[in-house]
Amino acid sequence: MLIDRLSNLLSRYNPARLAPAVLINEWARRLPEKGIASKELMICNGRHRLHEVISLGGFPVIGEIGVFKGDFAQFLKSRYRPSQLHLFDLFRQAQLMGSGDVDGNNCESCSGEFLFENAMRMFGSDPSIVFHEGDSKVTLAEMPDDYFDLIYIDGDHSYKGCLSDLTTSFRKIKNQGWIAGHDFAVNYKKCRHRWHFGVRDAVTDFCRDNNQKISALFLDGCVSYAIRIQK
Ligand SMILES: C[S@@+](CC[C@H](N)C(=O)[O-])C[C@H]1O[C@@H](n2cnc3c(N)ncnc32)[C@H](O)[C@@H]1O
Repeated sequence: MLIDRLSNLLSRYNPARLAPAVLINEWARRLPEKGIASKELMICNGRHRLHEVISLGGFPVIGEIGVFKGDFAQFLKSRYRPSQLHLFDLFRQAQLMGSGDVDGNNCESCSGEFLFENAMRMFGSDPSIVFHEGDSKVTLAEMPDDYFDLIYIDGDHSYKGCLSDLTTSFRKIKNQGWIAGHDFAVNYKKCRHRWHFGVRDAVTDFCRDNNQKISALFLDGCVSYAIRIQK
């Protein structure tokens, strides 16, 4: 009886799940030692503060890879008032896509057809919005080099897909521009699910291979990163 209760309790204790909830700030502060983050790494409590860290003068050109229902695109538009906001998504080329909210909770699935119609309803009459429908490996590569002030990557979350978006974005971003993105890590203080993305390894390899450093982290349930690009 006692043994049963003990083994039941132990089976619920998962240190891998508990540790990041306690240590997320500690973990973030150690990234500079690993050579992939700046010594002046800024740590903010969420990406709703992105514009406080990344100030873009004038009429910036912004890209978002992975739009889903347009929540963050709306944020980028209202905070930065870009001259152009390029929205890259599979849209109708995907049958069904799923996404959680900024914390990785409240997941929903939508058809590509719905996502496209929704984006049209939200942004279709706005002349500053440019839609790019299809795989970002193709559509982003078609853009001119040194063109964007900020690209936010939140599309294909596999290692290969994210690394491809990062390396292509590196060509497309201006010197001193910003590459940012979602899902670098999971912050279990806010996220109720265990997600396994290839994003952290892709960002780590991208930074090491291209001599770039993460400048800021945003500790939502799914952590965003931002890299000030030095070419
Ligand atoms: C997590 S959602 C984006 C959420 C959005 N950034 C936000 O915060 O409101 C991921 C989106 O990426 C898109 N996506 C996935 N793989 C892609 C690819 N290879 N090329 C372009 N878009 C892709 C999906 O269609 C989906 O809408």
